[in-house]
Amino acid sequence: MYRSGEFRLGSVHPHQQVGHSVRNLRPLLKSILPGPVRVFEGATGLAVNMRPQLGAQVNAELSNPQPIVIETERLILRRLTMADLDALAALYRDPEVRRYFPDGTQTYEQTREELEWIIDVYYGQYGYGLWATIFKETGAFVGRCGLLPWEIGGRTEVEVAFLLDKSYWGRGLATEAARAIVEYAFATLPIERLICMFEPENSASRSVAAKVGMTMLWDDYVDKYGLSHVYAIQRPVSHAGSAERP
Ligand SMILES: CC(C)(COP(=O)(O)OP(=O)(O)OC[C@H]1O[C@@H](n2cnc3c(N)ncnc32)[C@H](O)[C@@H]1OP(=O)(O)O)[C@@H](O)C(=O)NCCC(=O)NCCS
Repeated sequence: MYRSGEFRLGSVHPHQQVGHSVRNLRPLLKSILPGPVRVFEGATGLAVNMRPQLGAQVNAELSNPQPIVIETERLILRRLTMADLDALAALYRDPEVRRYFPDGTQTYEQTREELEWIIDVYYGQYGYGLWATIFKETGAFVGRCGLLPWEIGGRTEVEVAFLLDKSYWGRGLATEAARAIVEYAFATLPIERLICMFEPENSASRSVAAKVGMTMLWDDYVDKYGLSHVYAIQRPVSHAGSAERP
């Protein structure tokens, strides 16, 4: 669950740190972040995959130069860009989609700010974050799924996060994305476990977490937004040592 107002890692919003908007922070962020954006994705060539199904949305995807991070049977996960702002804002202003987010629906400007943060800080500093989720058959932007770093109890946890357009719910797409994200994370990141965090009433998120092999870690995690359930999965033995340790 992404809480847009908070910008999870370190739990200090950059506004509070330096009193500027994220947009104004861009040059500062560029100067303090460790070198150019790290791209460790295994790009597989969107053009090759999608050319036979050319349509308006597919063409839009073809002109998007972002590398593919993850590809599944029905989905492509690629880096978000500012060109995704309209599509993301349309999802974030939907009260049903945002029902279980403590900060509720988001305005266009709030979505812009989150998108800038994802690009500048998550991609720039961590090399991962939330990714545009594209329905391969049509090229439609159907949501954003990915990985979010959190500081919980002095430890960095990485959350598998998912949010889809409601017209795509109930087709197993979140489970398909989450499975691939778990696989990707354990194959590429030096982390021992992944978590999912959601409001106790969010049964869809609970189902997705369980279906990707997570089990309850905490049923009593409380922060300023209230109670959350936290599910987790440990790094499988077969992945041990497959990613470089810091
Ligand atoms: C959570 C979400 C991503 C699930 O997407 P999805 O593609 O519908 O999920 P799947 O089709 O893979 O289904 C997973 C499980 O959730 C269940 N589910 C799907 N939509 C549901 C709903 N609206 N209410 C209750 N359960 C639901 C499915 O039945 C399935 O469970 P089952 O196989 O045990 O029956 C989607 O509901 C969503 O985007 N919600 C809004 C954003 C959100 O709350 N994100 C999570 C924040 S922590």
